[in-house]
Amino acid sequence: MSTYVLYLCCLSRVVTPIFLARAKTLNSVKIGICGLGTVGSGAVNVLGRNADEINARAGCEIVISQIGARRDNPACDLGDISVSRDIFDVAENPEIDILVELIGGTTVAKELVLKAIENGKHVVTANKALIAEFGNEIFAAATEKGVTVAYEAAVAGGIPIIKALREGLSANHIEWLAGIINGTGNFILTEMRDKGRDFADVLKEAQELGYAEADPTFDVEGIDAAHKLVILASLAFGMPLQFDSVFTEGISKVEPQDVIYAQELGYRIKHLGIASRSPENGGIALRVHPTLIPEKRLIANVDGVMNAVLVNGDAVGPTLYYGPGAGAEPTASSVIADVVDLARTLTATPEHRVPHLGFQSDKLNDFDMLPISEVETAYYLRFSALDTPGVLSKITQILSDAKISVEAVIQKEPGAGEDHVPLIILTDRVIEKSLDSAVTQIQQMDSIAGEITKIRVEALG
Ligand code: HSE
Repeated sequence: MSTYVLYLCCLSRVVTPIFLARAKTLNSVKIGICGLGTVGSGAVNVLGRNADEINARAGCEIVISQIGARRDNPACDLGDISVSRDIFDVAENPEIDILVELIGGTTVAKELVLKAIENGKHVVTANKALIAEFGNEIFAAATEKGVTVAYEAAVAGGIPIIKALREGLSANHIEWLAGIINGTGNFILTEMRDKGRDFADVLKEAQELGYAEADPTFDVEGIDAAHKLVILASLAFGMPLQFDSVFTEGISKVEPQDVIYAQELGYRIKHLGIASRSPENGGIALRVHPTLIPEKRLIANVDGVMNAVLVNGDAVGPTLYYGPGAGAEPTASSVIADVVDLARTLTATPEHRVPHLGFQSDKLNDFDMLPISEVETAYYLRFSALDTPGVLSKITQILSDAKISVEAVIQKEPGAGEDHVPLIILTDRVIEKSLDSAVTQIQQMDSIAGEITKIRVEALG
């Protein structure tokens, strides 16, 4: 012991600055926030309001050292925080430990994140498009530099689903996950169903509430959900991010009558992202599309801007994560959780930090990616059929020849002066290419008018 004390005393002049440097890292972590829109202003407000609790959890003081934003946002009070109109000033600021990227998009944001990494900063981002499309490159750059890129806010807003998959479920072999992962789309479908509101009108409200993407076609055409699904799938299965492999269909073609017929059959239409492993060959299918779900399932009752992700692990069984999927403070909640995590691990060596996709980077799998044509599911089909004898039996004959069994049929009375009637069929599970070939044959029947509506059905249980 005395030798040890003597040794420290002898070296005290040398070690003091090292201790000071270490103490500085532990006592305060400096962050720079780039982007002061909905989420950026939410992050400033929550960090200010809950500073004591956040710092107590982090074990150090989290200080917003600089903000990079083209304009201020009246939704938050910046006090004496230094603001730069050039976001790259934040990436170049040597004081900053963590750059928080909240500008969105994939061009400038990518450049900014790579610059921050090059300068040895950790990064927190809410940018799902950036991670889904360029995550492999960004994670490789971060690993090379020994820094971490954290992205909890990129998926399902305030729900800590990344952490659940990466840490909470790390004992499990995950077979599938399915989620309502676009708040805007869920808000639109809910308002259409409950209040009979017009699609465009609800979308406008979602934009005003700050839920929708800068380009709302990302929400209504399923691109935003596809970005999020890719991230969840990589964490669940341990594979590189593969945005190009997602089959994507939005909600823009869901008609009010389908919402009503689905209800008559005991289902709700939800826009789901589904990632599953084929039990036959282990291939992975990633798909985003409107889906009929039995109305008794919890996830079928997730309404408005709320998100939910159902994950089925072999050890734990089905687990459901629910919460607000968009909005200023819910998303800020996830952003700040990442900052706290990083602040806690700042002293850990890179190899002892949690890997970007949960699995060690040299252990990622190279799965076969299955096209939608190989996916097996059940289907809701709606035909506009001539109201004459024999039409229904011809349709069911075509389905039966293709070995597709029919689970339910609804036929409506023709409206006044109309000779075609809506005919709805629910099928049993079948491989999509077999269903498509039967639907093509039915489509060619003279007694069928217009395009046949096809919506996938999942029991999720
Ligand atoms: N536009 C997205 C949504 C925002 O509606 O879910 C959150 O990612």
